[in-house]
Amino acid sequence: MTILQKYDLAGRELANRFVMAPMTRARRPDYIANEETATYYRQRASAGLIITEGTPVSPEAQGYINVPGIWTAEQTAGWKLVTDGVHEAGGTIFAQLWHVGRMSHTSLQPDRGAPVSSTNKPVRNPKSMVFTYNEDGTTGFVEPSIPRALDTEEVARVTADFAHAARNAATAGFDGVELHAANGYLFEQFLNPILNDRTDHYGGSVENRARFTLETVDALIKVLGADRVGIRLAPHNQQFDMQDYDGVEETYFYLADQLAKRGVAYIHLNDNWAAGRSVVDDELLTKFRQRFSGTIILAGAMRFERAERLVEAGVIDLPAFGQPFIANPDLVERYRGGLPLAEPERATYYGGGNEGYIDYPHAAAG
Ligand SMILES: Cc1cc2nc3c(=O)[nH]c(=O)nc-3n(C[C@H](O)[C@H](O)[C@H](O)COP(=O)(O)O)c2cc1C
Repeated sequence: MTILQKYDLAGRELANRFVMAPMTRARRPDYIANEETATYYRQRASAGLIITEGTPVSPEAQGYINVPGIWTAEQTAGWKLVTDGVHEAGGTIFAQLWHVGRMSHTSLQPDRGAPVSSTNKPVRNPKSMVFTYNEDGTTGFVEPSIPRALDTEEVARVTADFAHAARNAATAGFDGVELHAANGYLFEQFLNPILNDRTDHYGGSVENRARFTLETVDALIKVLGADRVGIRLAPHNQQFDMQDYDGVEETYFYLADQLAKRGVAYIHLNDNWAAGRSVVDDELLTKFRQRFSGTIILAGAMRFERAERLVEAGVIDLPAFGQPFIANPDLVERYRGGLPLAEPERATYYGGGNEGYIDYPHAAAG
């Protein structure tokens, strides 16, 4: 039961190796984390490390309604309730800093402007819709709006928004931040050469496509120190109208080398299965490990047996679980006691009130 053992994450002791993966729950109509948000995370604080739901770093970074952000003082105070609760319960918590890029809609953007991206190419895939307001004020899924490619000079402004959010995260008492560079959002829109059609120094070569991500990592490190900055990556991701490409490994191995040089707290790989298949397999993980000797987290339909096997083989350090943590706030205790797992209710993943959010019982109480 190696995954129950303590772990040193860049000088911070985690109570065990379980990571709660970041999960948007879209329950904050005022975009501010509150007491219920704090209860939700505190209930799950026996995880060695919690990574929060993606929290937008600016109004422009939003792509879904009701998601608590981290750009204002009020939002920062809301998150403080969350970190206090988790710390009181002995947990560790990083904030996932998020910008959706083109996965947004004008109804969510400042002055109803176009969402920004590396490109003007829109998301056009019936499976990739944005949950927002309809013209009549009701909510529903709509096609993402046509984006506007960021000007070269503007890219630094977005990086500055992340630095601002990192300062707020420190004020809110987070143990660190995770840059969300996965799942088809803004940073991946720069990394992917099929989508990124830029001719400036943010497009073309691997170095250029990775530049924005690494500049932002550097900005976060400047604010918080490398030991408090992690990053989430999703090689071979095809979510949100992204396409796989030749040279994907070259791109991610370059990032691994660069992140190793910077000594970040961790790299969090998300296996976004495509066409029913795992895309971050053991072979890719092993090659990744050869380049990055720091902490590697892996998420994506993780199972206890695989977690134990990969950790014992030294291929990854920390297994992350998403959906199992929704219905099993005490996932760690259930594993320790060999107790059965509850199944989460999909209908209450996003939006709504406390039902399917903070009413899943602990096994002992259930
Ligand atoms: C309801 C829900 C919301 C999610 N929101 C986020 C998010 O905000 N940021 C992110 O990086 N991944 C998000 N994910 C992906 C999860 O972090 C995780 O990678 C994915 O669910 C696979 O892990 P699992 O099979 O253990 O659930 C979300 C997943 C779910 C189910």
